[in-house]
Amino acid sequence: MRRVFSAIGVLVVLVIAAAGAFFFLPEGEPAAAASPKQPTGTALIERGRYLAQAADCVACHTAPGGQAYAGGLAFKLPFGTIYAPNITPDKDTGIGTWTDADFVRALHSGVGKGGEMLYPAFPYASYALMSTDDALAIKAYLFSLKPVKAKAPANTISFPYNQRYLMRAWRRLFVPDHRFRMRDGQPADVNTGAYLVEALGHCGECHTPRNMLYGLDNGQKFAGAVTQGWKAYNITSDKQAGIGAWSDDDLASYLAKGYAANHGAAAGNMGEAVDDSLSHLSKPDIRAIIAYLRTVRAKSAEADERVNPDPSAIKTSTAYAPPASEVKASPLGLTMFQSACASCHGWNGEGLEHPQAALLGSRTVNDPHGTNLLQVVLYGANRGVPGEGAAFMPAFGQAYSDVEIAAVSNYVLAHFGGKKSSITPADVAAARKAAP
Ligand code: HEC
Ligand code: HEC
Ligand code: HEC
Repeated sequence: MRRVFSAIGVLVVLVIAAAGAFFFLPEGEPAAAASPKQPTGTALIERGRYLAQAADCVACHTAPGGQAYAGGLAFKLPFGTIYAPNITPDKDTGIGTWTDADFVRALHSGVGKGGEMLYPAFPYASYALMSTDDALAIKAYLFSLKPVKAKAPANTISFPYNQRYLMRAWRRLFVPDHRFRMRDGQPADVNTGAYLVEALGHCGECHTPRNMLYGLDNGQKFAGAVTQGWKAYNITSDKQAGIGAWSDDDLASYLAKGYAANHGAAAGNMGEAVDDSLSHLSKPDIRAIIAYLRTVRAKSAEADERVNPDPSAIKTSTAYAPPASEVKASPLGLTMFQSACASCHGWNGEGLEHPQAALLGSRTVNDPHGTNLLQVVLYGANRGVPGEGAAFMPAFGQAYSDVEIAAVSNYVLAHFGGKKSSITPADVAAARKAAP
């Protein structure tokens, strides 16, 4: 699992926090008692399992090839590396000795068991909205798991960034001090969806741009943001720049299965979010998420990023051959595509063998910056939603030079998106560095 965390800006945050560490107010103890509505026994554990999936705790708390929830995944920050801790109930290396109050405080306020502030790589700015019942259900689930003895490596954060108390200032600015509030006058499914998106799924942690202080800029909610090389696209209701023109069925397919006809596939950390989290949600919950997304105010984008649903080269291609005019010109990009890509993707945008390999209508082949295109070509994809078959694409970063990757990327944008792009070998080199 290669989970990405948006690190940029933590530096700025800490410097600013250090400059103005003026928020030294006493910590309020959050209530940690469940309401009378909370289920008990196995029903509670089952509810906790579902919520942990909806909040995608496993994504960050599992090292590549490691045991689920046993921690160890590295988050590279500009000033060192932090490691996600073990959150299995092991008493020595996990959270086995944590009380309900300890656990709820961590999720709602980003405070660890010893009272230390936690880094916002842990998305508690979103989990702060989670109900206490749901936080406790997640704890009950985690405590039902087999304890795993595994100590995450020690953090290597240098002074002064290792001074955790500095994050208090940030917390006071950007972490809500209340739980999720239903909006009056909104249909029930919109409120349910808002809770799933804001308090659990933390979609904004990737899809909302950040301000100078690394806080989410909610004036630009879901307008799109780049995190460690991947662009989490605009998912506002804008018809051109966002998902306003997608049908409910297309959105449901993308979220639950990781691809949608005429919109392409989810790769990178969105692919992981689908595999680990969204594909486990109930159909009504997926529909509720969609109902809420529809209410997010449209934010437009530059015209060149709009999806061209009908590029001319596609009309004259078959599944097995590009148009004669392209063959005659035979640029390096076409030769590359023929040898490295065509066997899975074909030429007419529909994909060969895998429906996930269909490229027509995908934002990735329409974004002339080639942000996600370069990442997927460099690092490939390896996904699987049960019942959907595996979706595997090899990584080409080792096999091909920056010149070749730039050429095939420009070709793909022209052929599948009708876009004029000018991706250079230097852009490919930068994309290699952007990934963790
Ligand atoms: C985007 C990545 C990410 C997600 C998602 C995430 N965490 Fe974490 N979590 C972290 C990181 C990184 C830390 C360590 C922060 C630090 O060291 O300051 C952490 C710390 C914690 C801690 C403190 C543990 C300790 O030993 O101090 C707990 C408890 C925790 N997470 C529980 C959860 C739960 C429960 C969920 C799901 C509801 C979750 N996390 C989701 C990244 C994540
Ligand atoms: C860890 C980061 C991350 C999280 C969390 C995340 N996304 Fe994404 N999302 C991305 C990235 C990156 C892409 C682009 C994927 C690609 O091009 O293959 C994306 C793509 C999408 C798209 C397709 C947009 C398009 O134009 O193709 C939708 C819809 C979407 N996300 C919805 C959501 C929703 C809803 C949530 C929360 C439930 C969510 N995402 C959570 C990173 C994230
Ligand atoms: C072995 C089959 C295979 C080969 C070879 C292959 N791909 Fe893919 N590709 C896939 C599959 C499957 C997906 C869907 C992955 C997913 O669901 O995340 C995909 C996804 C993509 C995407 C969409 C990613 C996104 O974020 O929207 C692009 C663009 C792409 N491939 C381009 C290429 C290019 C360019 C090449 C050649 C250099 C190539 N692929 C070679 C199978 C392949």
